[in-house]
Amino acid sequence: MSFGRYSLHRWKLPDLRRVERLEELRKARSELPGSVGFVPTMGALHQGHGKLLEKARSECEAVICSIFVNPTQFGPEEDFAAYPRTLAEDLQTCEAVGVDLVWTPRSEDIHLPGCETVVQVTGLGGRFEGVSRPGHFQGVATVVTKLFGAVAPHRAYFGQKDLQQLILITRMTRDLLMPIEIVPVETARDQNGLALSSRNRYLDQQQKVEAAAIYRGLQRVAEVAAGGQREASYLEEVFRHEVSTLEGAGIERFDLLDPGLTRTFEKGESITEGFCSVAVRYAGVRLIDNIKLCS
Ligand code: PAJ
Repeated sequence: MSFGRYSLHRWKLPDLRRVERLEELRKARSELPGSVGFVPTMGALHQGHGKLLEKARSECEAVICSIFVNPTQFGPEEDFAAYPRTLAEDLQTCEAVGVDLVWTPRSEDIHLPGCETVVQVTGLGGRFEGVSRPGHFQGVATVVTKLFGAVAPHRAYFGQKDLQQLILITRMTRDLLMPIEIVPVETARDQNGLALSSRNRYLDQQQKVEAAAIYRGLQRVAEVAAGGQREASYLEEVFRHEVSTLEGAGIERFDLLDPGLTRTFEKGESITEGFCSVAVRYAGVRLIDNIKLCS
């Protein structure tokens, strides 16, 4: 993988530090100069994570990446055990981008024995994705608060691919008076348009090509809306039609959302601006994506 002006030859340089324990992280963090950019991840890094790291690298004096597959954001039926873990490659990716510090915490350093505190974004956390994944956003908000508390970054980078997570974390930092700027980063896609995701590793090559129908569907919705057809059920039909080419796929969620993600537009209503956000189950994998709709 090549990441802009940073190429893999940097891997030879002893720049990257990896720490595991909380005390080591705190010490290494205190030695970093100037503004600190932070990219929290669950590993299995791809070019989407690469974009976040590159943006942090270009905007901050020091960059910290965390790699932690957080158990508390997975439901009991979800893929925590199977989630891809590719640490050796991930460290190379971090090295190539010029990350200064990688934190790979142990679970007991994050979820302390006897911990009684959780963070809940009460409205947004229970809506949209939160309906089909109960507890997910509480897990995310809690772990991100802990990571922020340990890393104390000036800026933190989140992908627009996980739109609700991005808005939720932005709202949480505001609500809890955290002095951290949340920086959104555009969705990275493969050459066919499929949004990159660590879970795409569960698909074979042919399935990845086919799954690009999801983004084509979103593009069609955005085109039709830009052309003036903005009625919710019509736009849903446009999406369904495009995704019907994807054999065995099930649309688990189709939401037309206002820009602040406070509500969905229902049948009979017309959306002026906001997002079209979807979850599609295909080949056993739950794929999420979204597109901005402009007025
Ligand atoms: P993870 O899925 O590893 O994603 C880490 C970050 O990469 C998130 O901000 C996510 O939105 C971003 N990202 C993933 N795919 C992307 C793509 N195709 N284009 C741009 N950005 C992309 O999201 C999580 O981990 C976890 O919930 C976490 C925030 C680390 C908390 O555990």
